[in-house]
Amino acid sequence: RKKVTTLQLKKMKQKGEKISVLTAYDYTTARIIDEAGIDMVLVGDSASNTMVGNPTTLSITLDQMIYYAKSVVNGTKRALVVVDMPFGTVSGNPLKSLEAAIRMVQETGVDAIKVEGGAEIKEDVKKIIDAGIPVMAHLGLMPQSINKYGTYAIRGKEEAEAKKLFEDCLLMEELGAFGILLEKIPAKLATEISEKIRIPTIGIGAGSGTDGQVLVIQDVMGMNNGFSPKFLRRYADLHTIMKEATQHYIADVKARNFPNENESY
Ligand code: KIV
Ligand code: NA
Repeated sequence: RKKVTTLQLKKMKQKGEKISVLTAYDYTTARIIDEAGIDMVLVGDSASNTMVGNPTTLSITLDQMIYYAKSVVNGTKRALVVVDMPFGTVSGNPLKSLEAAIRMVQETGVDAIKVEGGAEIKEDVKKIIDAGIPVMAHLGLMPQSINKYGTYAIRGKEEAEAKKLFEDCLLMEELGAFGILLEKIPAKLATEISEKIRIPTIGIGAGSGTDGQVLVIQDVMGMNNGFSPKFLRRYADLHTIMKEATQHYIADVKARNFPNENESY
């Protein structure tokens, strides 16, 4: 199977073929979604929430993201693997940012990195792309800035914020980003941006007008039953399946039904 490239994603946009993206943080899950034919796997810093149980993404470190990214790369043959640069690693010091990005790529083998922010990190993004590392921008709701905004509410509703978002998208395209992730913004705005720029947009809570869609794997599989935002569609109820399987296993152990003779040496 041929590996998906950033160039291929651009061609998909040109052809009008939507891009499918899911997050993964471990080898086993990456293998499953790669086999299923997902176009891109995002090793999100949402690992801080889904894998560790932290309230925000702020506390996950570069070393920890490298560990998750390596696990996903090991389980992926076809999909493009993109990893989040965690909070503080790409934030206005281009040389430091480049160093972190190079570590990430060298130690994990990921295909590309994703960074939250616009004009504020212009020089960082330029430096990283100049070094040959593909960059995806992340705009709209930026969870790493939760303490700045104080809310996970929809972004880009007011005209000034929508204008800044639009300009940041144009800037990121000009800098050479291969794509833009748009989180939780009005569908109309996301559609306008997607029609204006030539690089693919990947949306989450951004309506159907983006060039692709991304969701968090635990949410999609219904493992996380405490989270049901409007934008989420669940495709399985693994919470129930895993809980019932666990109860069944417990019952078998207690009843001396497991292991049986065939399962013993
Ligand atoms: O970390 C993450 O999972 C993300 C989402 C927008 C998919 O960045
Ligand atoms: Na993220």
